Amino acid sequence: MPGPAVTPHDGKLLVLTPGMGAVSTTFMAGVELIRRGGAKPIGSLSQMQTIRLGARSENRTPLIRDFCDIAPLADLEFGGWDVHEADAYDAAVHAGVIDAHELAPAEDFLRTIQPMTAAFDQAYVKRLSGPNVKEGGTKKDLAEALRQDIRDRMAETGASRAVMVWCGSTEVYLRPSACHASIEAFEQGLADDDPAIAPSQLYAYAAIMEGVPYANGAPNLSADVPALEQLAEQKGVPLAGKDFKTGQTLMKTMLAPGFKARMLGVGGWFSTNILGNRDGEILDDADSFKAKEVTKTGVLDAILQPETYPDLYEDLYHKVRINYYPPRGDAKEGWDNIDIFGWLGYKMQIKVDFLCRDSILAAPIVLDLALFLDLASRAGRSGVQEWLSFYFKSPHVEEGHVPEHDLFIQHVRLKNTLRVIMGEEPLTHLSEDDEEHVHVEVE
Ligand SMILES: NC(=O)c1ccc[n+]([C@@H]2O[C@H](COP(=O)([O-])OP(=O)(O)OC[C@H]3O[C@@H](n4cnc5c(N)ncnc54)[C@H](O)[C@@H]3O)[C@@H](O)[C@H]2O)c1
Repeated sequence: MPGPAVTPHDGKLLVLTPGMGAVSTTFMAGVELIRRGGAKPIGSLSQMQTIRLGARSENRTPLIRDFCDIAPLADLEFGGWDVHEADAYDAAVHAGVIDAHELAPAEDFLRTIQPMTAAFDQAYVKRLSGPNVKEGGTKKDLAEALRQDIRDRMAETGASRAVMVWCGSTEVYLRPSACHASIEAFEQGLADDDPAIAPSQLYAYAAIMEGVPYANGAPNLSADVPALEQLAEQKGVPLAGKDFKTGQTLMKTMLAPGFKARMLGVGGWFSTNILGNRDGEILDDADSFKAKEVTKTGVLDAILQPETYPDLYEDLYHKVRINYYPPRGDAKEGWDNIDIFGWLGYKMQIKVDFLCRDSILAAPIVLDLALFLDLASRAGRSGVQEWLSFYFKSPHVEEGHVPEHDLFIQHVRLKNTLRVIMGEEPLTHLSEDDEEHVHVEVE
């Protein structure tokens, strides 16, 4: 194995979030509360999980954060854009995810994070409007203004590196079109104000042009088009996406691999949700929900492989619903009714009622993505980082690759990639006796 070729982290890392809503402010507030002591980074692999190196008998299982050269929390700085003028503290209070008395110690810090003016167009998020929006100019001008924002915020915070994680609202469903086919077509589209270019793509473009890794936490089309993939390769920038895997889909990608492993059939899977935060309100719009529906429903087919196991999964009826219900705020409830069948076709039912806190599940994902994308960048990786599929409902993969949805396979791949990045052997998870019979050549 070659030794690690990772440029050591040096200086501050700026985490930029287009969107300063529930997820983004829960992430920022959480990091600050953890840094102050007393709060724990629960749900974050980068902070809490260990990684085994070599054979079990070697007893080498450091924490990931000690093994990988990731930035320490103390080095993180934040910046964000929003169409609303609220600073990170007021936005966190509005989101209502973290209790006010728990948020209080972080107030002074969060107040220093003022939203930069957004590149926004209501045509892409119908149920949203606000005053803090860049006015006039073409999409090219807006992208240039976002690039300037990135440089300004880096200078203000004294950061040496930055990463960007889209935490903005879900935009309407868009298919890739001609202006997404190449870098030249995309740049022409920016100059021509092509309606096929959504605001999230302006942020992605600005990030890539500034050498800033970009991840998309929402289901809409963003960096997952050839033009931006090519640009990322050209500029040596890592990308990841899309749609944070939290809540119901997280449960699905834990349960479905289990059914398949035991060769149990699934006849139907009905999933419904009630939620009352701003995200729920936006997803109440059919065009935004369409983007979400596509990322949520692809998961089961990919895991269960009905074409390989027609007797078990060919007739699976899968339906997903999201209902906006204001009294719930961020405290979502998701019900799954799963109709399964076993030996001789006998039917059984499983009911899952998940009283979930979406942003509590999403915040550690933002943290891990920021730290791992920065690591990937310093390791010289560029383009789509499929090993980060673990964090996404609809993994962004390279053209021609098949996305992996099984959480456990994604987990193995994530940790093996960390081992390889740091110059260690990937693990086969065989016993030492079995490994003697295997001759694997690792590049
Ligand atoms: N919470 C979760 O577990 C979860 C899971 C998967 C995906 N997501 C996605 O993550 C995103 C954020 O979720 P949230 O709960 O924080 O939503 P939210 O509505 O609380 O926050 C989104 C923020 O983005 C802002 N925004 C929208 N367009 C913008 C633009 N062009 N520029 C700058 N700001 C813009 C909005 O004003 C809003 O404040 C959503 O797209 C959501 O679908 C969330």
